[in-house]
Amino acid sequence: MTSPQPPIHVACIMDGNGRWARRRGLPRTEGHTAGEEALAAIVRAAAQRNIGWLTVFGFSTENWVRPRTEVRHILSLHKKLFGRIAELNSNNSSIRWIGRPFDEPGALTPPFIQKAINKAIADTATNTGLVLTVAFDYGSRAELLRASQRVIVSGDEITPDLVSANMYDPSIPPVDVVVRTSGESRISNFLLWQIAGAKVYFTERTWPDFNAAELDAAIALVEPKVSQ
Ligand code: FPP
Repeated sequence: MTSPQPPIHVACIMDGNGRWARRRGLPRTEGHTAGEEALAAIVRAAAQRNIGWLTVFGFSTENWVRPRTEVRHILSLHKKLFGRIAELNSNNSSIRWIGRPFDEPGALTPPFIQKAINKAIADTATNTGLVLTVAFDYGSRAELLRASQRVIVSGDEITPDLVSANMYDPSIPPVDVVVRTSGESRISNFLLWQIAGAKVYFTERTWPDFNAAELDAAIALVEPKVSQ
């Protein structure tokens, strides 16, 4: 008998919403709307698989310079995503967030998103299955600098364990596989510390077209097949 494999951690850089829209003659905002729906479907698919953690790059510290209307639209989609409580509860999935802490200098998460994040975390906290972590107002170098500074200020000698313990959410385990869509082969300042040993799955498909079959292809990079 094959012993059950421990649940894996998949991290997604959801790229190509704009290209998906352009190819269809639609405004970029439509691409983001389709991207949020694709994410909701991937969360449902992940909850049915041996995936314990799904971490997604929702909005980076660099994304704030996009046109105001686009930023506003992406923010409204985050509100929608964080509002999918009933769906998350029905899949026994909990939600978490990583990014620049709301009360720290430089943080840019607006109050209505802070509220949606806090509510989603509280309303899904008792679920024991998939942990969906959304990176919002997130940048990995900022996370690493902050973690290092916290260790230095504490007076302890800086060690890998102490850096890990000072990440935005230290309970997030190392990533097993990173997915990047839309033909880009860059990591773009996402989870640099946590992906040290990860496999990377690049696909030409734009994020709104990323589906459960592609998720299975990504997982196959890390999971031995049951028949093996
Ligand atoms: C890249 O597409 C995607 C983003 C800017 C962030 C991801 C946002 C979504 C998937 C929308 C909803 C998601 C959440 C978490 C609510 P792009 O605009 O860079 O595409 P392009 O490179 O083709 O222009």
